[in-house]
Amino acid sequence: MERSPRIDGHTLLAGVIGWPVAHSRSPLMHNFWLDQCGINGAYVPLPVAPGAFDVAVRGLQAAGFRGVNVTIPHKESAYRIVEEHGLLDRSARRSGSVNTLVFAPDGRIEGYSTDGDGFVANVEAHGISVTGGRALLLGAGGAARAIAASLLDRGVEVVVANRTRARADALAASLAGITVVDWAGAGAVLPSCMFLVNTTSIGMDGGANAVFPLDLARASAGLVVCDIVYVPRQTGLLRQAASYGLPTVDGLGMLIHQAGLGFEKWFGATPDIGPAVEALLDADL
Ligand code: ATR
Repeated sequence: MERSPRIDGHTLLAGVIGWPVAHSRSPLMHNFWLDQCGINGAYVPLPVAPGAFDVAVRGLQAAGFRGVNVTIPHKESAYRIVEEHGLLDRSARRSGSVNTLVFAPDGRIEGYSTDGDGFVANVEAHGISVTGGRALLLGAGGAARAIAASLLDRGVEVVVANRTRARADALAASLAGITVVDWAGAGAVLPSCMFLVNTTSIGMDGGANAVFPLDLARASAGLVVCDIVYVPRQTGLLRQAASYGLPTVDGLGMLIHQAGLGFEKWFGATPDIGPAVEALLDADL
């Protein structure tokens, strides 16, 4: 990607804090959008070791950054710093995590979670409306909670199954409206579902977990099968769904949509979430 050589006193700055962070695709996306929108800005990877998060955030704020994305292992620290000194958006409170910080002009730090809304926006970008029905959500980690919160907000009934049942129970206890089923019995729920969402890491990087341990033979006709894993884009789950003729939504679009929500907050412009940025990322996977 060609970058404008001009970085000057007017350049708007944002970045992603993580440890490690070199693998992040966020700089690629955001700098592409900055160029596309003609904005004098730059988005940089910010490797920040555990323990240095607070001082890094304060430093970036003092240096005039617009804000940052926050990734592993700092999402809990981000939640805490905003809870103590800033303004937690409803999306952050509901999902219990923060992946986007905005340094507001009044000195406050705003915290958002864009994962759940990014997920829903991506499904809707496939022409599928998310306004009701029932979803079977596999997994009970941070991504599951963010997605569950956004689905519940749109009137979707959420059923969670997780390999470790206690984590699913804890998730249900923290968000009203979730029911839990055993991992082994999850398939029995499928005939009544409109959506199946994999938030586990099964299928990631191909390999031993490439075969999904759930048989879609009993799925309802038209079940929308979504995977948040995007390496590879065609996971074992999505291949199985396609073999039954079920509509599928892969994880790359969620990555792009959740990033777009942050871009809008920092730079005040709506990025083009179209095939160009998708092709850019696809070529880099
Ligand atoms: P994230 O915050 O990205 O959701 P996480 O908190 O590490 O990540 O959660 C990973 C999820 O993938 C968990 O639900 C995990 O199940 P456990 O709670 O039982 O660990 C699930 N997971 C990972 N590998 C799995 C596997 N091989 N089979 C089933 N579930 C798996």
